[in-house]
Amino acid sequence: MKHFLNLNEIDSNDLIHIVEQAINIKNGQDKSSKGALDSNKPLDGKVVAMIFDKPSTRTRVSFDVGIKQLGGQTIVLSGSDLQLGHGESIADTARVLSRYIDLIIIRTFDESTLYELAQNSNVPVINGLTNATHPCQSMADVMTFQEHRGSIKRKQILWLGDGNNVCASTLQAAGQFNFDFTFCGPETLDPNHSYLDYAKRKGSNVTIVRDPIKAISNADLIMTDTWVSMHEKNNQSSKTLDNQLKPYQVNSELMKQSKKEALFMHCLPAHRGQEVTSDVLDGVQSKAFDQAENRLHVQKAILRWCLDVL
Ligand code: CP
Ligand code: NVA
Repeated sequence: MKHFLNLNEIDSNDLIHIVEQAINIKNGQDKSSKGALDSNKPLDGKVVAMIFDKPSTRTRVSFDVGIKQLGGQTIVLSGSDLQLGHGESIADTARVLSRYIDLIIIRTFDESTLYELAQNSNVPVINGLTNATHPCQSMADVMTFQEHRGSIKRKQILWLGDGNNVCASTLQAAGQFNFDFTFCGPETLDPNHSYLDYAKRKGSNVTIVRDPIKAISNADLIMTDTWVSMHEKNNQSSKTLDNQLKPYQVNSELMKQSKKEALFMHCLPAHRGQEVTSDVLDGVQSKAFDQAENRLHVQKAILRWCLDVL
């Protein structure tokens, strides 16, 4: 069973192949990129269930479109639509869905829900974001860097702000794609040590720097994300966070200290004027909208890997 749950669990050669295939799909060198009129439909006859316990624009639409371009069909569900939201267990839900469906994508809260679903499913499961991780995003980010700057190996990636779920998957990607990683944010929001340790064990040079001006000078790629993730909306005082995180805002003053050829990325949705200013997000170094587009291409390659239709 080829689940796509977290990047540290997948052979790095497979991850490298998925990114290469995604670039070929985007460049039209792969027949499945041509959309609805193309005769190559590797997902023909297959139905994918997408369960969203949290809102989504990019993940939901890019998977839906990608699956249809590959010839498959989709059913989009929210956890509260299902009996899952009314007491049926995750394990029983997985067993039942496996009888109808060829693949399940889930965006949920606790990572334990994702793993319980996968452990009880007879069909592949893809992680569409949890409180802890967001691997599909990191695959699109690696693809975006490589299409603009070539191999990401030994490049210097800087994460500014909150050491959140996207940051965690970026650290797993650092271990698997062999890039170096610097975290720069307040100590209270450091990434979980298990992700930092994983990247180090896999040979990534991982550093924590508290001064953004020092941290940015050597970076090939500068990344940030919202200061308040979806699962934190009710339990964080935005005033406290603003005060803590303000020094790590990515603005043009800070970007002036970066190398001219350094790129900026944000997984979106962005909160303009908070973690990033509009001049940076819309500036020449920003590849945020390429990242969003690349979700479509890389997820088509992930779907093909999961279903063994390479
Ligand atoms: N980046 C990302 O996953 O966006 P959505 O929340 O819109 O899916
Ligand atoms: N860290 C953000 C990512 C959104 C794509 C969140 O979890 O809300």
